[in-house]
Amino acid sequence: MRRKIAAGNWKMNGLTTAVEEAKAIADHPNGNVTTLLCPPATLLAQIAQLSLATGGQDCHTADKGAHTGDISAAQLADAGAAYTLTGHSERRTDHGEDDATINAKSAAAYAANLTAIICIGETLDVREAGDTLTLIDTQLAGSVPDTATATNTVIAYEPVWAIGTGKVPTTDQIAEVHAHIRTHLAARFTDGADFSILYGGSVKASNAAEIFAIPDVDGALVGGASLKADDFTPIIDSLAQS
Ligand code: PGA
Repeated sequence: MRRKIAAGNWKMNGLTTAVEEAKAIADHPNGNVTTLLCPPATLLAQIAQLSLATGGQDCHTADKGAHTGDISAAQLADAGAAYTLTGHSERRTDHGEDDATINAKSAAAYAANLTAIICIGETLDVREAGDTLTLIDTQLAGSVPDTATATNTVIAYEPVWAIGTGKVPTTDQIAEVHAHIRTHLAARFTDGADFSILYGGSVKASNAAEIFAIPDVDGALVGGASLKADDFTPIIDSLAQS
């Protein structure tokens, strides 16, 4: 059974005053939708007390040790998280993370009983070269551990050129990539048909319903429009109604 997930990625945004927004999001009725916030690590334990799911934005490959500034999956779980993002494009770009690293981070998430939301997606150059589906296959093959299941893993398709830009692929483009991801997962995993696949990149209240109507789109990973309850709760409503 595929879970419907409305995931908010707060990135490096949010001081303690932002907990009020998280409270308003947690108090919003979500029907059959899992509402998930991935706040900065400084707010995670506080927001994990609320009635919504929480996740980290990244985790280390090790469960503890001499890694100044990093955070482990065990620490995220200890703070109350049930999920963590791995392989977000900003980690791939800013921190040079490759598929093998993301695979190891996702396996570390499983070891801490977290669900890994493994992020993949093409740059504009790759799309314009016509290589999107090839890259998606490479990223899935490299980033998703062999021990992935529909329970411990969610895939987030985020075209890099759509993140924070206001540019959104056409519904046909999203449908093509999501169907391709589904086919890839179904060929590799016995429960590949049951994985949730999220779309991410400039999702907002005004385009959410159209995106959630696309086959094989099981929710969204939302950046900018997840910071305020007034922006995020209509997206949750759209998903619940889809
Ligand atoms: P955006 O970010 O919704 O602000 O485009 C999405 C993401 O990076 O997860």
